[in-house]
Amino acid sequence: MVDMDKKLVAKGVRRVFDDAEKGALLALHDFDLEAEHGEIVALIGPSGCGKSTFLRLVAGLDKAQGGTITYGGEEIKGPSYDRGFVFQETNLYPWLTVEKNIAFGLKARGVYKQQKDRVQQMIDLMGLTGFEKSYPHQISGGMAARVAIAQTFVQDPGIILLDEPLSALDAFTRAIIQDEILKMRDRFKPIILMVTHDIEEAVYMADRVIVLTPRPGTNAGEVKIDMPHPRDRISPEFIDLRHQIMDMLEFD
Ligand SMILES: Nc1ncnc2c1ncn2[C@@H]1O[C@H](COP(=O)(O)OP(=O)(O)OP(=O)(O)O)[C@@H](O)[C@H]1O
Ligand SMILES: [Mg+2]
Repeated sequence: MVDMDKKLVAKGVRRVFDDAEKGALLALHDFDLEAEHGEIVALIGPSGCGKSTFLRLVAGLDKAQGGTITYGGEEIKGPSYDRGFVFQETNLYPWLTVEKNIAFGLKARGVYKQQKDRVQQMIDLMGLTGFEKSYPHQISGGMAARVAIAQTFVQDPGIILLDEPLSALDAFTRAIIQDEILKMRDRFKPIILMVTHDIEEAVYMADRVIVLTPRPGTNAGEVKIDMPHPRDRISPEFIDLRHQIMDMLEFD
């Protein structure tokens, strides 16, 4: 079970990339974010503003040059199973079945025997029942995205980082998987940070939407989404929230 009291706190985060040709590239600066368990926080901003960079920092795959990122008061210093990452490109193991792809991380940690039931639970929650023995090349893009999400949730991480995991899917499949992710959130209550280019997706799923400026990325504003689920995508309130975010994204 996750520890519900732990908070994710990022303050004044700065990441500069050194490029031999272009010199120093300031990707992210003075970026702040706080998130609690059970919350979905969406990150929206122009391409190249440092969204994926920030997720990598929270994952512990990269190091900031300034500021702090803590989870439960402890500084994030490296990767951990307690922070799961779903990348934009689904990287399933092609030689493993759906079931074995989902179980892979548990096996790597040596906890598969105790947690075996969780694998079937994930398969059922993500609508993959009947495809346990299929290989990645035998399933659709939507199913592959579901497997990638299940691979992460099966570990019961405190923090889940979603980097546009649904962007390659058609609108219909995307809407179904959005509901599946919301179901998983209600059940396991991790902290979910979700990068998306889709304003509708952000308003449909998130509790808060953080808007970033163009590079060098920093906080441009925040919109709280205080609507109960399931959210009506064509209600005046929903459309008004979309407009608020669109207005914040108008940089000149
Ligand atoms: N490892 C790296 N080395 C050098 N520059 C990098 C590296 N990673 C990212 N950058 C640069 O940092 C900036 C931010 O990149 P990042 O991938 O975080 O953007 P993003 O907001 O996720 O964009 P997109 O919406 O297109 O995915 C970009 O200009 C990118 O070229
Ligand atoms: Mg990105």
